[in-house]
Amino acid sequence: MAIERTLSIIKPDATRRNLTGKINALIESGGLRIVAQRRIRMTHDIAGKFYGVHRERSFFGSLCEFMCSGPVVVQVLEGENAILRYREIMGATNPANAAPGTIRAQFAESIEANSVHGSDSPENAATEVSFFFGEVDIVG
Ligand code: RTP
Ligand code: MG
Repeated sequence: MAIERTLSIIKPDATRRNLTGKINALIESGGLRIVAQRRIRMTHDIAGKFYGVHRERSFFGSLCEFMCSGPVVVQVLEGENAILRYREIMGATNPANAAPGTIRAQFAESIEANSVHGSDSPENAATEVSFFFGEVDIVG
C-alpha cells in the first residue's frame, strides 16, 4: 500500500459548532496524520474555482454560498491509502446513508452541510492539495 496525501476541508457547519477538535480526533484515530492545516474564510471566487468540476450541477450555487458562509479548516492528511481511507472515515455524502461512527453520520446536518470534504482520486488530491498548500507548508 502506498503512502498518499489527500485534501480535507472542515466545512462551515462544523466550524460553527466548534467541532474541529472532534473531527481531528476521528482523523487521527482513523490512522491519518494531519501534516498541514490552516483556517480560512473562502471567497466566492475561491469556492467557485475549487468546486469547478461541479459547475454544471444543480447544487453548485448553493454549495459555493454554503462554503463561504463561515470559516473552514483546510488540511492535508497523510497515510497509507489516505485518499480512500479518508472517504471511509468521512462516510457517505448524504448523512442518511453514512455508516455509523463516520464523521458525517455523527456530525453532518444535511447532504450539503455535511461537515467535511475529502479528495476523491489521486489526480484530484494532487490538484486540491496544491490549490491551498505549497510543499514548504506540508510537514510529514
Ligand atoms: P466532498 O467533495 O465535499 O468531499 O463530498 P462528496 O465527494 O461526498 O460529494 P460530491 O458529489 O463531490 O459533492 C460535493 C459537495 O456538494 C454538496 N452536495 N449537495 N444538494 C445536493 O444534492 C448535494 N449533493 C452534493 C455536498 O456538500 C457535497 O459534499
Ligand atoms: Mg467530491
